[in-house]
Amino acid sequence: MENINIDRAEQLKAKLQEASYAYYVLDNPIMEDTIYDQLYRELQDLENEYPNLITADSPTQRVGDKLDKQFNSVKHNIPLYSLENAFNFEELNNWQNRWQRQLENIPKFNYNCELKIDGSAIALTYKNGIFIRGLTRGDGVTGEDITHNLRTIRSIPLRLNMDNPPPILEVRGEAFLPLEEFNRINEEREKNQENLFANPRNATAGTLRQLDPKIVSERKLQFFAYNVYFNPDNNLLDTQDQALKFLQQIGFLVNPNYQVFTDLNQVKQYLDTWEIKRKKLPYMTDGVVVKINQFTLQNELGFTQKFPRWAIAVKYPAEEMTTTVEKIIVNVGRTGAVTPLAIMKPVTLGGTIVQRATLHNLDRVRELDIRVGDTVIIRKAGEIIPEVVEVIKDLRPTESQPYEMPSHCPECNSILVRPDKEAVTRCVNSSCPAILRGSLIHWASRDAMDIRGLGEKVIISLLDYKLVKSIADLYKLQTFEIADLERMGEKSAQKLITAIEHSKKQPFHRVLYGLGIRYVGASNAQILVNNLHSIDNLIKAKKEDLELIYGIGEEITNSILEWSSISENITLVEELRSLNLNLQQENNHSDSKKKLSNKTFILTGTLPTLKRNDAKKLIESAGGKVSGSISSKINYVVVGEDAGSKLEKALKLNLKIINESELLELINS
Ligand code: IVH
Repeated sequence: MENINIDRAEQLKAKLQEASYAYYVLDNPIMEDTIYDQLYRELQDLENEYPNLITADSPTQRVGDKLDKQFNSVKHNIPLYSLENAFNFEELNNWQNRWQRQLENIPKFNYNCELKIDGSAIALTYKNGIFIRGLTRGDGVTGEDITHNLRTIRSIPLRLNMDNPPPILEVRGEAFLPLEEFNRINEEREKNQENLFANPRNATAGTLRQLDPKIVSERKLQFFAYNVYFNPDNNLLDTQDQALKFLQQIGFLVNPNYQVFTDLNQVKQYLDTWEIKRKKLPYMTDGVVVKINQFTLQNELGFTQKFPRWAIAVKYPAEEMTTTVEKIIVNVGRTGAVTPLAIMKPVTLGGTIVQRATLHNLDRVRELDIRVGDTVIIRKAGEIIPEVVEVIKDLRPTESQPYEMPSHCPECNSILVRPDKEAVTRCVNSSCPAILRGSLIHWASRDAMDIRGLGEKVIISLLDYKLVKSIADLYKLQTFEIADLERMGEKSAQKLITAIEHSKKQPFHRVLYGLGIRYVGASNAQILVNNLHSIDNLIKAKKEDLELIYGIGEEITNSILEWSSISENITLVEELRSLNLNLQQENNHSDSKKKLSNKTFILTGTLPTLKRNDAKKLIESAGGKVSGSISSKINYVVVGEDAGSKLEKALKLNLKIINESELLELINS
């Protein structure tokens, strides 16, 4: 290859990078789009001719190939802490008193206030100035490698704008979807009859976990940088506002609304101003982060078990809106549980349009005395389905009547029952179509058989056309039968059949969970499998056998006995057996016992799906021990969100740190 080509390629890369920075970061274009495209194409042609010219930082390399597997878990170079929250000015004041009490004398300081962007925290690593890796926050210790997707974000430079970049430089910040883009994606999903994203935060997290970077590239994610770490010791930078300026200089988009103040009264003004102004921003914010500006003071204060002492998030109250109730309906779930829902006049709440609110159960309906025609206050506090917090009784129409739950199931018309002591009303007809629908949805779901492409909409079509009458029928479907369903076609039909066939290989604990026996969640299914090894043993088990199993209580025992006594369930098991699904554990018991025997675990922080006690039971049922105090004898430290001092000690002792999915892998492998 001639040197002239190498030089030309380098020049083109540098020019395109400069243009991109001016456009995406400085919002001050220096080049016409057509010129950019032309230079881009020239570089592309050169690279096609001489593939050796392609480097990781080339602007042509933003959208890579699809991943063929799930993401790798990678440990963060520096753990990602979360922030303490304050919900009002008094709590902010208390925080100031607290950190000041800790010092003998208070040096001169100020506060840097930044908007708290509602997206996903991301950690980026640059080696010699080149972007090499990007991770999600994960549990703060370990994140998922989503480099391929982060490369598509134009406000993340692939090469730092620095003359002598340090060997390793790490940047933290928030990836987010601008509201306009969020709405566009949801409109498109609605057209395609796909499930809508509840809010921009979920849409961001969902997009970052896409396997195909092309899809990510189409959804215009953005990234605001707010932290930078590099050796030797950030010694160029003394304060957070300097760090933000530096980040912008080396190529990052920094939220421009930060401001430095000398006291909390000024901070209060900033909070008040942004409480109003934030509603006009083109992206979602959920508060303000107040940080002590001076790094020397930050270092002196350090971290508590969970948070930095030098920063706090002041959260704006969850958004509330009023609307009116148009009707109250009930929804029948897979266990036959009947949940009342209010259907309301649509309103925008926290950036999304809301029309339904859960009323949980009849007790809650009585407590609220909610009626059709009522004006209600609804609130969304992070949940996908908002809830009704209050009925404004003064605005009630005079002719309104108290709400009565239907006496009969809206789906199969059989009589509904509400057992004594239970809050839940149920349809107990085992052939109720709602129960079958819910069972199929549960069977195909991620933690059960994980059948991609078999979502709620497809299941409803299959039921409408009477193509399936039971879980086993899924495995008898033919491509031609489903190719005619709405929005399906030959290719997707073939894909779906393959996915269904593939699910036959799922291990027994997933099958057992998929069967949807009441109270047998993913972790109880695992415990049962570890102890009973096969569906036959489960069906044969007597009350006393089940009660002997550590972690299985009376409620679960009764539910299993009831399930085993229903002949339809036994027929289903036989059908699944003849279809070759796994109805026993492949490893034998002593193997799995050996897996964790002599291994001692520590649990710390909140795990994403398992409750602390469930995790303990799982470890113990696989032969491991769970200890309460940390020492060098511990084999594994299982960490979740907001892990405390144990995590710090574990890091000091250099113990093996794992997250929930790694724990489950240990138990299942
Ligand atoms: S600083 C150790 N600054 O808020 C300090 N966080 O609850 C780490 N966030 O996980 C955080 N905007 O995802 C910081 N300007 C900002 C932020 C911000 C949004 C998020 C971040 C973090 C969460 C903490």
